[in-house]
Amino acid sequence: MTLAMQNEVKKRRRQLLEQLPADAIAIFPAGAEVVRSRDTHYPFRQDSDFYYLTGITEPEGVLVLIPDAEQQEILFVLPKDPLQEVWHGRRLGADVAKQVSAVDVVYTRDELESRLLAFLNGPKSLYVAFDQHPEFEQQLRGYCRRLAATPKRAKTAPEAWCDVKPMLHQMRLVKSAYEQDQMRKAAQISAQAMIRGMQSTTVGRFEYQVAADIEHEFKRQGAAGPAYGIICGGGENACILHYTANTDVLNDGDLLLIDAGAEYAGYAGDITRTFPVNGRFTAAQRDVYQVVLDAQEAVIAAIKPGTTLPHLTDICLRELTQGLLKLGILQGDLQCLLADKACRRYFIHGLGHWLGLDVHDVGRYELEGEATPLRAGMVFTVEPGLYFAPDDVQVPEAYRGIGVRIEDDILMTADGFENLTAAVPKQIEAIEALMAGESAVTQRRAVS
Ligand code: GLY
Ligand code: MN
Ligand code: MN
Repeated sequence: MTLAMQNEVKKRRRQLLEQLPADAIAIFPAGAEVVRSRDTHYPFRQDSDFYYLTGITEPEGVLVLIPDAEQQEILFVLPKDPLQEVWHGRRLGADVAKQVSAVDVVYTRDELESRLLAFLNGPKSLYVAFDQHPEFEQQLRGYCRRLAATPKRAKTAPEAWCDVKPMLHQMRLVKSAYEQDQMRKAAQISAQAMIRGMQSTTVGRFEYQVAADIEHEFKRQGAAGPAYGIICGGGENACILHYTANTDVLNDGDLLLIDAGAEYAGYAGDITRTFPVNGRFTAAQRDVYQVVLDAQEAVIAAIKPGTTLPHLTDICLRELTQGLLKLGILQGDLQCLLADKACRRYFIHGLGHWLGLDVHDVGRYELEGEATPLRAGMVFTVEPGLYFAPDDVQVPEAYRGIGVRIEDDILMTADGFENLTAAVPKQIEAIEALMAGESAVTQRRAVS
C-alpha cells in the first residue's frame, strides 16, 4: 500500500464527511465471499464503494463515518486467526488494516455488534448504500429496532434512513490524478492484450482460446484479470451483445468481435474491436465497419468539456443513419429517419457509459432533467455498433449476421480529452496490416 493510496482514501473520507449532515452516521460494509459450489467460492472482489473509501481488499470489513464525533472514522476488520489463515490465506488484522486504510481506530469484527449499537445511539440519520447489501441492511434494521425498544434507557436510533449513493457516487464520477494514473495503466494493459488477441486470431482457433490469450496478457502485466466477462464472438455471435460463452470455432470469412478490459488496481479498461478472422475484410464487412468507424470518429471529434453524452449520441445516430442510408439498409428521407430513430433497430445499446472501479461505473447521467456536462476527470466509453440479425429479411442478404462494435475509453481533461485506448488499431488498413504483420504471424505460429 503506497502513501499515495493512503492519502487518497483519507481525502475521500474527509470529502464525504464534509458533505454528510452533522447529525448523521454513515456505514459501509465490505463485500462477502460468495459460494460457487459446495465449499468453493468465487474469487473475492471487494465492494467498490468500500474499496474507494478504505483501500482494503479483504472481505467482511465495515467502515463507519460519524461527522459529529471526536472519532469520525472507525473501521472493523476480520481478526487475525492462525487456523483460518493457514487454511484460507493471510488476514490483515487491525494493525495492518490501520496502515492500509489510514483509519486511526480499527477494531476487529467480534466487536462490531456492541460498538455499532453504541454508534447508532444518537445520530438522527443513517446513511447506507440502499439495496447494495440487503443482508447487512437487515442487520442494521435489527440494531435500530433494538435501540428503539429501549427508550427508557434513553437510547435512540436514527429516525431517517438515507441513501448515501448519490453523494458518494458523484465523488467517484470525477477521477483524481491518482485514479487517472491507474486508469491509464488499466487501459494500456487492455490495449496490449487486445492487440495480442488480434494477432493470435486465426481460422480454426476457438473463441475461448483467443479469450485465454487476452486474459493471459492481462495477468502477465499485473492486472487482476478481466474487469468483466470477456466477449469473444465470431460470426453471428457478434450480434449477441453480452456473448460470453466463447465456445465456437472461428471461421474463415467471419468477423470476430472482442470486448475485453483488464481490471488494474481495481479500475476497469473496456475496449471493443471487430476484425476479420482471416485478416482481410470482405466488401460487405468493410461497408458496415466503415459506417461504425465513421460514427465513432465523429463522436470522438466532438468531445470537449461541457458537452454531454446525449449530444454525442445525437451525433452518433446521425452518422449511423447516413451510413445505413448509403448502404441501402435504411431507405427514405434522412430527417424522417432521424426523427424516427430508425437506426435504433440496429444499434440497440447506449453510446457509452462511465468507467472506473466498475465497468459500468457510478455517477449520475442527468440531474433534474439536465444531462451531466463532461468535465476534467470523468472517464467514459464511446462504443457505437451495428448488429444485423442473421434472419432479418429487412436487411440485404450480404449484411445479415454481421455485428460490429468499436469501443474506446475517454478521459476528460481540463481543455479536451485523452483517448486512453487509442493504441489499438481501428482503421481498416491498420487492422489488416497488424494481422498480416511479422509479430502476428509469430503469435499464430506460437499458438498453432
Ligand atoms: N463490456 C460491456 C460494455 O462495453 O459496456
Ligand atoms: Mn465493452
Ligand atoms: Mn463499454
